[in-house]
Amino acid sequence: MISETIYPLRGEIEIPGDKSVSHRAIMFGSLAKGTTEVTHFLQGADCLSTISCFQKLGIEIENTADRILIHGKGLHGLSAPTEILDCGNSGTTTRLISGILSGQKFTSTLTGDASIQKRPMKRIIEPLSHMGADITSVYGNNCAPLTINGRPLKGFHYHSPIASAQVKSAILLAGLYADGETKVTEPYISRNHSEIMLSHFGANVRTENTTAIILPEPVLEGQKIAVPGDISSAAYFIAAGLLVPGSEILLKNVGINPTRDGILKVTQEMGGSIELLNMNTDNGEPTADILVKFSALKGITIGGEIIPTLIDEIPIIAIMAAFAKGTTIIKDAAELKVKESNRIQVMVDNLKAMGADIESTEDGMIIHGGKDLHGALIDSHKDHRIAMSFTIASLLADGHTTILDRECVDISFPTFYQELNRLIGR
Ligand code: S3P
Repeated sequence: MISETIYPLRGEIEIPGDKSVSHRAIMFGSLAKGTTEVTHFLQGADCLSTISCFQKLGIEIENTADRILIHGKGLHGLSAPTEILDCGNSGTTTRLISGILSGQKFTSTLTGDASIQKRPMKRIIEPLSHMGADITSVYGNNCAPLTINGRPLKGFHYHSPIASAQVKSAILLAGLYADGETKVTEPYISRNHSEIMLSHFGANVRTENTTAIILPEPVLEGQKIAVPGDISSAAYFIAAGLLVPGSEILLKNVGINPTRDGILKVTQEMGGSIELLNMNTDNGEPTADILVKFSALKGITIGGEIIPTLIDEIPIIAIMAAFAKGTTIIKDAAELKVKESNRIQVMVDNLKAMGADIESTEDGMIIHGGKDLHGALIDSHKDHRIAMSFTIASLLADGHTTILDRECVDISFPTFYQELNRLIGR
């Protein structure tokens, strides 16, 4: 039996700005000459950490209600920080800023919260060191805090063993300061927001298959950036719209960059009714309104090159799989273990607590869907995507669900609970 008090979601929702694009707008705007104006910026804790780091690096950034103004000082305009740079919970801030700081003429130290201090940084320390960077993990464990002594850098061709936009972007950003061409080849293409936006600011960057190539010392010019809605945030409402009987919602202005749109392909393959309307392009980033209607879902197998295009959506995909008919297999997703939490373990433990039939594997999980789920005590591990995923599950579970540290949604979607309550008419 499912919950007796199920409220369908109906109406329209403006999805908050894309987290990856918002970070990059602050970073590249800081390295550009002149003013960059950013609208629909994500006012989430992670992106605010990026703003605060660049302010400590001497950049004036005005954050008003409707836009951000970044008074960039050019590629060589950053100045030595007088304090430690606090990246908070943000892996994107930590890794991308490390690439930038590697090529400066000063020393800086960066750190973050307890989760950041456990996340692997060897994946950037090694390739950046090959370029000549001098990076020390303060506690010798290849994690933050990191001390970075800026040095002259050499161009480098890095063959990355993982498809990671954070690794790729860190190296490309160091490549801005190198003495020649820098290339990153990945096993599969990861999100390409850095390449699109850097080129928009005037950098010489191109892509050949799964290789991104950048030339050093461009003159970057301030731009106007309209940030699209974050498809990773939209994913919770796509799932709710598909799962909750009677729902029909229109998600406005969502980024549908093909390196991020795996969630749309997967939900359609599961039998979801998803329609793209009003397609457009903003600063090289494709967008659309997404119309979602309640649908009966079936289990599928997900693996291979689609994984990087939906890596952050796997928690909510696992929730959909738990309610779908049949078995869903998620594989090739070992990266989930090193996100804000170990998302394989945390999903399996919490879904089991709700009564789901789920098991972990080395690189993913297997979910036998269609079991009746009941309310439970959910430990979010302060991971925003876990808290939001189980909030959606709780809409359909029988009985009460409590989510520990539910306020961690502030990382990427501060208005999540208000928006959900509005769409269910409460
Ligand atoms: C991000 C890249 C992804 C993603 C993260 C944001 C980015 O990480 O999980 O939330 O903005 O570049 P990896 O590239 O390390 O997989």
